[in-house]
Amino acid sequence: MKDEKIKIAVLVSGGGTNLQALIDAEMNGIIKSGKISLVVSNVKGAYALTRAANAGIENITVSKKELGSQEAFERKLIEELEARDIELIVLAGFMSILSEEFTRRFSDRIINVHPSLIPAFCGKVFYGLKVHEAALEYGVKVTGATVHFVNEIPDGGKIIMQKSVKIRECDTPQTLQKRVMKIAEWKILPLSCEKISKDLLSKRV
Ligand code: GRF
Repeated sequence: MKDEKIKIAVLVSGGGTNLQALIDAEMNGIIKSGKISLVVSNVKGAYALTRAANAGIENITVSKKELGSQEAFERKLIEELEARDIELIVLAGFMSILSEEFTRRFSDRIINVHPSLIPAFCGKVFYGLKVHEAALEYGVKVTGATVHFVNEIPDGGKIIMQKSVKIRECDTPQTLQKRVMKIAEWKILPLSCEKISKDLLSKRV
């Protein structure tokens, strides 16, 4: 038991660039206390699933649209995670808000990456490009990314890691989004994943 790695599930919705950063980090030995054992997409046909398949990682789709409700979606998700003894859940570009019941069940075992320096530009209405549009509109000179634990408040859980990114005069929401991903998200998500996996390993008896 002691030598086993922490079993990680990565939840995705889209292209999966953050997932790719995690896969690469595991290959490069940056993530060594955990193993990506499952990738779950809530969107059928998401390219992230192909990235998982290419890396030989089990991948499945759990679709709220097909299951009909948030309750049914989360019930199925829990079933799939528990069937594989998943110990850490990483939200990587996962565009769905999880209920209080779900987040409580996996308390301190769900982490998320958000493309701003929390508490700026976060919460329910800030996702995807909207975060960067808001940062540019406000005129902040520095933005970045945050990895945090997930609780019942969107982007409200304890902060694990942050990295800042300078805003350029010529930035558009698109250029800023790309740079925040490259400089911050793809770096701190794998590092946080290793940190939390290591912590969880040390708490195992
Ligand atoms: C981007 O909106 C990024 O800022 C956010 O997730 C999206 C990237 O998704 N955190 P993916 O990892 O390429 O699927």
